[in-house]
Amino acid sequence: MTSTLNRVIVRPVAGHIGADISNVDISRPLDDEAVKSITEALHRYKVIFFRGQRLDHASQIAFGRQFGELTYAHPHDDTPPENFPEIYTVDPKRYEKKYGADFGVASRRRRYSYFTGWHTDVTAAVNPPAGSILRAEVVPEIGGDTQWTNLVAAYEGLSEPVRAFVDTLRAEHRYGGGYEISRSSSYAKVVEDNLLVAIHPVVRVHPVTGEKGLFVNPGFTSHIVDVSARESRAILDLLYAELTRPEYTVRLRWEAGTVAFWDNRATAHLAPADIEHLDLRRTLHRVTITGERPVGPDGRESELVSGQEFGANHKVVVDD
Ligand code: SIN
Repeated sequence: MTSTLNRVIVRPVAGHIGADISNVDISRPLDDEAVKSITEALHRYKVIFFRGQRLDHASQIAFGRQFGELTYAHPHDDTPPENFPEIYTVDPKRYEKKYGADFGVASRRRRYSYFTGWHTDVTAAVNPPAGSILRAEVVPEIGGDTQWTNLVAAYEGLSEPVRAFVDTLRAEHRYGGGYEISRSSSYAKVVEDNLLVAIHPVVRVHPVTGEKGLFVNPGFTSHIVDVSARESRAILDLLYAELTRPEYTVRLRWEAGTVAFWDNRATAHLAPADIEHLDLRRTLHRVTITGERPVGPDGRESELVSGQEFGANHKVVVDD
C-alpha cells in the first residue's frame, strides 16, 4: 500500500482515512512537487500525519501558508502568542488562566481542548477553515489521542434514498449549537459578543475533489432548518450515528513533534476526554487555512446569519 510520490512517502494507516507522510522535513520550505504530493495525499486520505518534526510557531505558520492563506487564531481567542496571531494554542492551563479555575468544572467536557466532542473546526463561520494543522509540543505519556472520521465515506455509506433526502437539507451552525456553554461564564460572554451563525448545506460538495460529504457535526450544528425540532433531532441523530461509526475513523497517538493536517471540508474530529481526571500536560498549537463558503448538491452556497467571514483579519471583541 505504500506509494512514493516523488520524494514524499505516503503510507495509508486505516481503511477509510488517514496516512503517514514521511521523507519530508516540513520545517523547511517545500518545493512545488512536495506541496502537490502533500495536497493530493490530504484530499485522498483526509488527514495526514507527520512524525518527528521540529516546528516552532514561525515554521508552522510558514508550512501552513504553502497550502493557503491562514486565518486568525480562533474566532474567540483574544490572546494568541505575541507576534503569532495565526497560532491557536490548545492547552487547558491556558483556558483556566483566561476563564478562571472553575472553567474546567463548568466546561468539563472541554478541559483538554476547546471542545471535546466530534466537530469540524469553526463551522459556525459561513466559510469554515479549509484545513487545520495541529502540532504537538507537550503530550501526556498516556491518553490524549485524537480521532478523525471521513465524512465522505459516512455519506457514501448511507442508502441511496437517504442520500437523496439529506442532499436537500440545510442546517444552522453556531457556537454552543450542539453543547452547553455555561451562560454565566466569561467564555459565554466572549462567544455572545463575537457571535458566528451560519446556514450550511447538510451535504457539502468538496470544491477540489467534487466528492459529497456530510457537513453536520455535534459540536456546532444547532438544528436542521425548515423541519420541526423533533424531526431535526431524529435526522441529526441518524447522521451522527453514521459519521461516528468506528470503520470511518482513525486514531492518532501523539508524540512531541507529531503534526496532523486535516481536510476540514471532509472530516470531523474528536478531541480527547480520557485524561480530564488526571493532572497531565497536553499542549498543541493549531493554524487553520482560510476556507470558502460551502456549496450543496443543488449549487446553493452557505448563508451568513451572524458575524463575519473567518479570515486573517478576524477581530475578537472583548468587553469587560
Ligand atoms: C482541535 O479540535 O483542533 C484540537 C484537537 C485536540 O485537542 O486533540
